[in-house]
Amino acid sequence: MWKGVIEEYRKFLPVTDKTPVVTLNEGNTPLVYACHVSSLVGEGVEVYLKYEGLNPTGSFKDRGMTMAISKAIEEGSKFVMCASTGNTSASAAAYSARAGLKCVVLIPEGAIALGKLSQAMIHNAKVIAVKGNFDDALNLVREITDKYPITLVNSINPYRIEGQKTGAFEICDSLGDAPDFHAIPVGNAGNITAYWKGYKEYKAAKKATKLPKMLGFQAEGAAPIVLGHPVKDPHTIATAIKIGNPASWKQAEAARDESGGLIDMVTDDEILAAYKLLAAKEGVFVEPASAASVAGVLKLAKKGYFKGARVHPSTSLGTGGPGSGKIKIVCILTGHGLKDPDRAIASVSKPAVVEAKLDAVLKEIGI
Ligand code: F0G
Repeated sequence: MWKGVIEEYRKFLPVTDKTPVVTLNEGNTPLVYACHVSSLVGEGVEVYLKYEGLNPTGSFKDRGMTMAISKAIEEGSKFVMCASTGNTSASAAAYSARAGLKCVVLIPEGAIALGKLSQAMIHNAKVIAVKGNFDDALNLVREITDKYPITLVNSINPYRIEGQKTGAFEICDSLGDAPDFHAIPVGNAGNITAYWKGYKEYKAAKKATKLPKMLGFQAEGAAPIVLGHPVKDPHTIATAIKIGNPASWKQAEAARDESGGLIDMVTDDEILAAYKLLAAKEGVFVEPASAASVAGVLKLAKKGYFKGARVHPSTSLGTGGPGSGKIKIVCILTGHGLKDPDRAIASVSKPAVVEAKLDAVLKEIGI
């Protein structure tokens, strides 16, 4: 039985026999081949979707939270706190509930998706909405956790990064090696930092022979790393990545530069198009921020970015077997579509309402 990322990857993580493991058996998420997206990106390319929405609380945050909460307990903490665009708060609330810790979350007022808010509330966290954005909330959390004996569980907490790097291990284990490109949405920039760390460690341990190029994507209205300066009033429909001053900015740039990748931005329209395409053509429902990785890959493909990236046959193990020579791109789908039902319903036409009569239903079907 899969026992969660700490037990599965124990030797890569800063835990000992004395660490009380708080887990919901997170991780082990599917790596799904994306037939339609692959054909759009072009011949000789295989696109895979790492469906992180299938973690216990519906996002990748659970990988980091199992570590952060286990270490908080080990260190005798009774009280944790985070700022969040929603998913971190949902995960912190769930793992704190399981561990018997007090949990306070600060969210930007009116700016987090309904599913995420409901999770934090039902897991009994103290939810405080601040009249400001995520960056304001995170500044407050840093100040409070500096002054009081409260453990910060945002991704500035190094244990969060340690847990999240296990996503890279799973991808290498599934593909038999690292992919050629790793596409990922960037908000507070913890996850791109974590994946890059994971890939490097797996290669050093000889579990992979190469490193991917890291491709990070921000939303156009919240793209501080692309612009090179903080964004005071970030805006995007992808509320999860509506962040103007990422905490792990420098580490994200390091991942980009060390890997020879890039950090680019995608418009809300491009995000929504990818969001709908994933649901309608791949059968994979994600929240809008997650679609930024696919939107970014499609944007780069249009510019011919992957054309020059032919892989040497001996370095790639494709679905076509060893030596298929196909370029492999993994897109991280960070959160489940059910997190943000309002966005889904607003994105497509409403259900037809008809009389409960056979002819009325047949007429509507067009039979
Ligand atoms: N995708 C989703 C669904 C997210 O919730 C987040 C971040 C990201 C991508 C970006 O990841 O911050 O590591 O660069 N959500 C945080 C939160 C900020 O509070 O839930 P990142």
